[in-house]
Amino acid sequence: QDVEFGIVGSGSMGAGMTLLFSEHGSKIGCYDYDGDAVQALMDEAKKDDSVDESLVHGFTSLEKLVNAFPKADSKSDTSSGAENEERSKKPRVFVLSLPHGKPVDGILDELLPLLEKGDMIIDGGNEWWEETERRQRKTKEKGVEWIGMGVSGGYQAARHGPSMSPGCSPEAWDYLKPYLEKWAAKAPNGEPCVLHMGGGGAGHYVKMIHNGIEHAHLSILCEIRSLLKHQLGYTNDEISVLFESWWKEGPLRGNFLVGIGYKGLKFKDGDGLHEEEGIVEGMEDKVTQDVDKSEGTGTWSTKEIGERHVAAPAIAASHQLRIISADKFERLEVAKNLNVPQPSEAEEKKLDKEKKDELLKTIHSAVYGAMLSAFVQGLNIITRASKDEKWGISLSNCLKIWRAGCIIQSDAIAEFLLPLVEKFPPSEPLNLLRAAPEIAQELARTYEALKKVCLIALETDAVAPALSASLEYLKAVGGKNLPTDFEEMELDYFGHHNYDLKSEPGKGHEKGNYHTEFSRMPGV
Ligand code: 6PG
Repeated sequence: QDVEFGIVGSGSMGAGMTLLFSEHGSKIGCYDYDGDAVQALMDEAKKDDSVDESLVHGFTSLEKLVNAFPKADSKSDTSSGAENEERSKKPRVFVLSLPHGKPVDGILDELLPLLEKGDMIIDGGNEWWEETERRQRKTKEKGVEWIGMGVSGGYQAARHGPSMSPGCSPEAWDYLKPYLEKWAAKAPNGEPCVLHMGGGGAGHYVKMIHNGIEHAHLSILCEIRSLLKHQLGYTNDEISVLFESWWKEGPLRGNFLVGIGYKGLKFKDGDGLHEEEGIVEGMEDKVTQDVDKSEGTGTWSTKEIGERHVAAPAIAASHQLRIISADKFERLEVAKNLNVPQPSEAEEKKLDKEKKDELLKTIHSAVYGAMLSAFVQGLNIITRASKDEKWGISLSNCLKIWRAGCIIQSDAIAEFLLPLVEKFPPSEPLNLLRAAPEIAQELARTYEALKKVCLIALETDAVAPALSASLEYLKAVGGKNLPTDFEEMELDYFGHHNYDLKSEPGKGHEKGNYHTEFSRMPGV
């Protein structure tokens, strides 16, 4: 069959990539242990007019998939023809589209003995970067390249062009580049949304932080939609019109989540329920974690925030809300004991149309500021990690691959950030708000709007952790005087923590030079 690429896993992402790659003319072998999934994909290829079904071959045996590539010894087989001879020199490339962790190791153990030096395995799922680097060390012993590559945009982008973040050797990137560029989503200027992120786990790292930003954006938007609906009295249809206007024009133009948000809010005929207010009204307010409670990109991003000492409170707060939301039964049990006010209507609901329209502009600005600050928080984590791990990730490359195909695509924000970030070399700067005054000024411009929105949330007891964390971030990250002098005193009192003097400020986060024995003071 002479397949050119093997795709392991025929779930929605693997199926999408199989159809996408074959649409671009590659002969694909798709493997899944579940024969029904493979058959469903073959049927899909048959039905899809843009795909030549003869380019898609199904397998339920990994060994058969490996053997379906041109034979390496065909170089000396004159009867196989020049074309086969040329193809036999190519590495065999497998793209894994599997849940992270054990399923990937299972396939690796099965696949590796069947491979030869020069072959490549791309892990296209989400993965913890250290797991990627462990597998890279393992496959390297055999001369097989393991590529950790984020694939973003969900199953629809997998079918029509995802944003991709490969982390691998420069040689593997050189080989894969023309294929990946063909398959990738295209930015508004036509550039493919795939670039080499760096070596080791860089690719999976960038995708993990993409998801951290995605989670913050999801939270900011759901908090705002709830505020508009429940505190300010707008209907879902009205909110949909508002979100559509944000999506079309202004600083949230081309924001993917705003775009699907306005479309989703209009959706009314899903289950026949809630005809008036749309399908979202019938949905339970719980967001569970994907694979396992203790794992996943949100959990990993939050872990990184702690371990790398980078401030990213909106990303952390969005993850916390997701954790709290997930167990509704528990929440309702707690509510029986925890008698705090439930969210109420805002005074602003009674404003006249003109003033309400003004308020909507304020809300627009607040959402933009919060989303922009989530980008800053995520990019700061990436730079820190890239420096620590010596990956050489360039922030402008991250922003370039996020211009289309992915969940945090936001045209106007990318157009604003990219030229400002392009001037920095890889792994610099460690703090965008320090290095790029234009970004800091833009956030400062949205501060009052964000504060107003948070005030409404506070007054009405509305739940708005990502919005509040975004505001607190702005207050603290450039704060000239934080409340932490008192904390420092208490820490030194009980823990010999040491402190610096305001008259002799230190330059970094090194331990202070002074200690006081508080117990020796008279009267203590
Ligand atoms: C993307 C998404 C995607 C996401 C899954 C599962 O960029 O396409 O980020 O990779 O991870 O949809 O979502 P959760 O991990 O948030 O549950």
